[in-house]
Amino acid sequence: MDVLVSLCKRRGFIFQSSEIYGGTGAAWDYGPLGVELKNNIKRAWWRDNIHLRPDMVGLDASILMHPQVWKASGHLDHFTDPMVDCKACQHRFRADKVEEQSWIHYCPATKGNKFEVPAGEPCKHCNVRRSLCPDCGKGELTTPRQFNLMFKTFMGPVEEDAAVTYLRPETAQGIFVNFDNVLQSMRLKLPFGIAQIGKAFRNEITPGNFIFRTREFEQMEIEFFVNPLETIDGRPADEVWHERWIESRFAWYQRYGMRRENLRIREHEKDELAHYAKRTVDIEYQFPIGWSELEGVANRTDFDLKQHAQFSGKSLTYFDEERKQHVVPYVIEPSAGADRSLLAFLADAYREEEVRGERRVVLRFHPDLAPVKIAVLPLLKKRPEIVTTAHDLRATLAGRWVTVYDDTAAIGRLYRRQDEVGTPYCVTVDVQTVGDSAKGESGDRCVTIRERDSMEQIRVPIAELPGIFERLLGAGAWADVARSYPPARG
Ligand code: GAP
Repeated sequence: MDVLVSLCKRRGFIFQSSEIYGGTGAAWDYGPLGVELKNNIKRAWWRDNIHLRPDMVGLDASILMHPQVWKASGHLDHFTDPMVDCKACQHRFRADKVEEQSWIHYCPATKGNKFEVPAGEPCKHCNVRRSLCPDCGKGELTTPRQFNLMFKTFMGPVEEDAAVTYLRPETAQGIFVNFDNVLQSMRLKLPFGIAQIGKAFRNEITPGNFIFRTREFEQMEIEFFVNPLETIDGRPADEVWHERWIESRFAWYQRYGMRRENLRIREHEKDELAHYAKRTVDIEYQFPIGWSELEGVANRTDFDLKQHAQFSGKSLTYFDEERKQHVVPYVIEPSAGADRSLLAFLADAYREEEVRGERRVVLRFHPDLAPVKIAVLPLLKKRPEIVTTAHDLRATLAGRWVTVYDDTAAIGRLYRRQDEVGTPYCVTVDVQTVGDSAKGESGDRCVTIRERDSMEQIRVPIAELPGIFERLLGAGAWADVARSYPPARG
């Protein structure tokens, strides 16, 4: 994880929020490349789950909602974590997670020497298990008390109890309270889904592990409504749709290059299920911190719509024309984190390779996710014709794809820099391209394209570049395109 954090800072992906004031440790800022990467992930998610499906529509609900929403949803009463404090150093921990971290131990069997003992293990010298604060090794922990994770604020200028509201801890409730608006305005028929991407806020007791757990983050959520009276092949429709969504979401990460062996499905045990959930699975990723939740896919039954109907007094039903009756739809909820997806895509893309005796760091991003698609590089920055041609090329390509120009180092180093941020293609303009007007030599108007993963190079006419990138950055494979052009010298 430290390697990723350092790369992200050095190359402009992610910075600690308010770093010049010491940072918050609980929120992160996306730099020039990070914002491109995150937008690309969100765009791919939106396109695949909304634009390409006939049964999905989008929504962008507000972050500040009526406080009753959180009463009805159960967040006011139940969205809590058990918290304990160290009586000596005052550090706070989630009571249910405290065994998951290594602990400081002053071992009596070694005259009180200080050791850091791995999580969940006893001290190998005295065989004692952790009973004190894992951070300082000295203080006792308080008994657990429940801590509500919602951020409280005030709506309006007066800070009084009647004005209390909350920053939304999930985007889902914005969808449930708009169920009828969307249903009526779009004349939808079950089954259909409403999707939303947006910020959510949780006052996590122990944020950490970079962008894995933060207090401000973005969710990409779908609420897919199903008629509970319907069956598919003799099975309840909600169960079948739940399976379809698990499959679809599991495949989605792989479509954008995530390796199958780093993904798995984890079924929630009965005692772990939320009281309203019929079944929940987590799609887990093998993060640098170990296997952890990337996305949850839950069957929330009709709980949310019924709760909001009861608390608002408004009917949130669907009229089943065939059966001539009102039904409260069941809902399947695939709920992903945009930041957590970004961390997983980043970790999965990161490779260290040895090339001709040198270490190369490369981010093997899927081209759709790569923050920069093309880098145009002049071989010699002292030759004005080369520089001008490279700038012109950048301007032409930038109209269609995110394209950068860089002349701040020798070509070998420029290639390495682009590898390190995952740019799939570099275009190099050289002497042969422009010729030498002083000697009356005209150039061949060809440039070199270098592919990031294979590092192969081909020589192509400038005039054909837009068509070539249309193929390469569309569905075309490098090998197919490269076959039509002569190789260039590396
Ligand atoms: N509406 C259901 C819901 O919010 P969740 O499992 O609490 O379910 C869904 O959150 C996803 O949101 C998680 O799988 C994770 O990707 C992301 N997420 C949740 N809490 C987060 C946090 N504190 N920091 C970053 N991402 C978080």
